[in-house]
Amino acid sequence: MSNKFYITTPIYYPSNKLTLGNCYTTVVCDSLARFNRMLGKDVFYLTGTDEHGQKIEKKAAAENKTEMEYLNEIVADTKELWRTLDISYDKFIRTTDDYHVKAVQRIFKTLYDKGEIYKSTYKGLYCTPCESFWTEEQLINGNCPDCGRPVEPMEEEAYFFRLSKYQDAVTDLLQNTNFLRPRTRVNEMINNFIKPGLKDLCVSRTSVKWGVPVGFDTKHTVYVWIDALPNYLTALGFMQDNDRNFKKYWPADVHVVGKEIVRFHSIIWPAILMALGVELPKQVYGHGWLMFGNDKLSKSKETGKKEVIDPRILADRYGLDAVRLFLIKEIVFGQDGPYNQELFLTAFNTNLANEYGNLVSRTCGMAQKYLDGILHTAKNLTETDTNFKQEILAKRGEVISQMEDINPSGAMNTIFEMFSKCNKYIDDTAPWVVFKEGNLERINTILTTLSEAILITNTLLLPFLTDKPKTIYANWNLKTPTLISEYANFGFIKDNTQVTKGANLYARLDVAKELAELDALANA
Ligand code: MSP
Repeated sequence: MSNKFYITTPIYYPSNKLTLGNCYTTVVCDSLARFNRMLGKDVFYLTGTDEHGQKIEKKAAAENKTEMEYLNEIVADTKELWRTLDISYDKFIRTTDDYHVKAVQRIFKTLYDKGEIYKSTYKGLYCTPCESFWTEEQLINGNCPDCGRPVEPMEEEAYFFRLSKYQDAVTDLLQNTNFLRPRTRVNEMINNFIKPGLKDLCVSRTSVKWGVPVGFDTKHTVYVWIDALPNYLTALGFMQDNDRNFKKYWPADVHVVGKEIVRFHSIIWPAILMALGVELPKQVYGHGWLMFGNDKLSKSKETGKKEVIDPRILADRYGLDAVRLFLIKEIVFGQDGPYNQELFLTAFNTNLANEYGNLVSRTCGMAQKYLDGILHTAKNLTETDTNFKQEILAKRGEVISQMEDINPSGAMNTIFEMFSKCNKYIDDTAPWVVFKEGNLERINTILTTLSEAILITNTLLLPFLTDKPKTIYANWNLKTPTLISEYANFGFIKDNTQVTKGANLYARLDVAKELAELDALANA
């Protein structure tokens, strides 16, 4: 098993403040990055911003700012948001960074020298907000298939990448390997883009000023995808003096992207890499969208209620664990999932307050009440105890496999099944009855076994919820782990372990009251 793990988010358009929808990819990737670090891997987690193009030019002008003034503000806000959500990225790339600009120019020139890029004229239907050219067949009701807005005919001198040449190679890659997941996306790509035939791709513009100039023909700027996609390489030092990270981390283990940009990552990107002679990433994962009503929560569509779906407000009111829990656990990874306030608040109560927080305080409370807060190693285990231990360890293995398989929502659901098994174990063993019977050795065995199960499970939870779970080890006078292997098996609670109750982790929310307050906020 390889000991490095290179994971990327898409680079975000700073065309507005980021939304909860954008946070989705970043939070999910963060759980994968953290989990792999806790498996002992050398992780490189990349995120950043995609800063060129007409839209940025227009936005900045509308706000009477230079492009850089405009971008710096949004980037500062984005980085602040990632701090709020505890995103542990290793590098933040901006496509306006000097090293990226130079490397993109070298990549463009290399492709041109190899005959993979040539000059011609582009005629097409253009969607300005999406900065995409479309063919007649791709339009939906005559409008842009991505955003639904009108397109206009346009013609200009441009450079083209020989995408058509890679039709067979890309088909083979998609059909015969696990390069693109989930599998349903493969059929979408084959039917919508490959079967109609890949056309050469326009990769420069003369009409867009705010872009990377084509080094050998400065009338042109590099167009969107040859600027944006190579960020995954340039961030590692590709085609630069110091390419140590490129040698160490490439190929990417997974590019996680939203479904609307799967096409770019699973067709255009591998073709560019093949043309460059660079090894392909191991996997592209196309996730679904967080849906607000019938809409994708997007920056460019005003929802009218956007204050309350502002991740900053949610994190501020309910804590970052609440936001991370909802995004990772409640949306099945790979599928679309609904967001609304009630689902968010209910997920908080069910999972954080009841299933998990209450379990921890109840267990520590019983240790204090029945055993004066002193635990010893477990002795004379019954069948109920050993079955419970086996179930916890089996589920633990399942969580690790799910994360290795890039399934964070599945893994988090398994973790909460483990907590649910802990709660059931309390019901099955009924410590309060045992206490009445005066059997203190039995209570100790129950509470030690239970405590260890909670901490084994909690250790798996650390990459997902980064706020409260790391604090609970102190209740048992134990150390917060940095590796999953530190709490891999039962038996770590020693004789005379002092247990304290600790602070209440999550206060149960009054859903009706919160809904009313959030509504007031939205309409303020
Ligand atoms: N700049 C390009 C990506 C270039 S990558 C080389 C881009 N940027 S974006 O800001 O428009 O979108 C970035 C990511 O946010 C996409 O993966 C997109 O799917 C994701 N999301 C935006 N709204 C979303 C939801 N409502 N739900 C889940 N993810 C969504 O595309």
